[in-house]
Amino acid sequence: MLFNKLIPVFAAAAQALPQPASAHCRDIQIPITVSQPRFIVTASLKDDWDVAALTLNLTRRDSGHSADPLPINGATTSSVKSTYTVGATLCGNGGPTLVLTHGIIESKLYWNPSFPGSKQYNFIDAAVAAGYSVLSYDRIGVGSSPKVNSLTDAQFQVEVAVLEGLVNYAKTKAHATKVALVGHSYGSYISSAAASNIAVDGLVLTGFSGTFDYFPPFVAGASLRVARTQNPLRWGKLDSGYLTTADLYAETYVYYAAPYFEHSVAEYTFNVGSEPFAVGELPSLLATTINYKNIKAPVYVLQGQFDVSACGGNCVGVVNNTKTIFTGSKALEYVEDLPAGHNLNFHKVAPQAFQKIFSFLSKHGVKP
Ligand SMILES: *[C@@H]1O[C@H](CO)[C@@H](O)[C@H](O)[C@H]1NC(C)=O
Ligand SMILES: *[C@@H]1O[C@H](CO)[C@@H](O)[C@H](O)[C@H]1NC(C)=O
Repeated sequence: MLFNKLIPVFAAAAQALPQPASAHCRDIQIPITVSQPRFIVTASLKDDWDVAALTLNLTRRDSGHSADPLPINGATTSSVKSTYTVGATLCGNGGPTLVLTHGIIESKLYWNPSFPGSKQYNFIDAAVAAGYSVLSYDRIGVGSSPKVNSLTDAQFQVEVAVLEGLVNYAKTKAHATKVALVGHSYGSYISSAAASNIAVDGLVLTGFSGTFDYFPPFVAGASLRVARTQNPLRWGKLDSGYLTTADLYAETYVYYAAPYFEHSVAEYTFNVGSEPFAVGELPSLLATTINYKNIKAPVYVLQGQFDVSACGGNCVGVVNNTKTIFTGSKALEYVEDLPAGHNLNFHKVAPQAFQKIFSFLSKHGVKP
């Protein structure tokens, strides 16, 4: 209870101060210019009634088919050029560099939590200790990155182009000699799409199975609400197309698996780490074909077994199908049964999961 009461204080502190700049890490702003066609997303949301209607539309058994098409009405005929000043954290001085992309209803704090006892869940600390440089960032629309339009800017292919821009930044400005992309959830799709377009040296996917078959329990179970009315203090400046979970327990259902996590950790993610996502992000992902077979880099799929959105709550017998997706990769390894739910980094197994990632990357030449 005490911890729960303290959380608003942490939340206020986290908003007021940038992450403490340790010897290795600094918060930076990276302007990225992208030029991409935009989907015309028709799911305009003004309140929670609209969100309930959208939830039904996206979770109908015939969703995405002709009776219930995606809420998209074509795309712009030409590319739309935008510059976003991305909020990022850079740790280390170059060399082998990991570029991290977080998932939806998350922020870059997913990789770098700060609460009493958070050390074992801190991917960035573990990566820095292993000798890597690390670039993490808030996706556009999230946290320290600019607020963007939830329908016209926050789209999958735009976010893929942003990541490609960040990889270019790592190589040209941050002295990266090798780059591995590490994604979680929606960030794994972004990382895969980027790795199919540009050369990288490794691809690590978590909260990912390569199939959208289990999105409905996630979309329904998250009990999505308009973020600005859900928490005006934190999110009053976002447009009404930004969504978040209804409460701590809805978020726990989609992101955690008992008994493999501490309740206080789920409280931290709900109260501090989580940030809303934009309604344009899901249909634009579903409407994009990712050319997985173009990915040459070695791929590591690392899964908590009990992941709802990736596997419908059991990854055994699902994640093995990634063998049929990454047919052009130099190597594919997968783990389908870590004792964890979707938020792998916040389960007790996190330290072992981190070491597995570093071992895989080292084995394939991305090593300090
Ligand atoms: C849901 O689908 C119906 C048609 O079946 C459509 O009229 C409505 O606008 C959709 N709602 C949202 C919020 O996408
Ligand atoms: C994955 O495992 C399931 C269940 O054992 C099986 O039905 C399926 O054929 C396997 N897929 C591949 C590509 O081996």
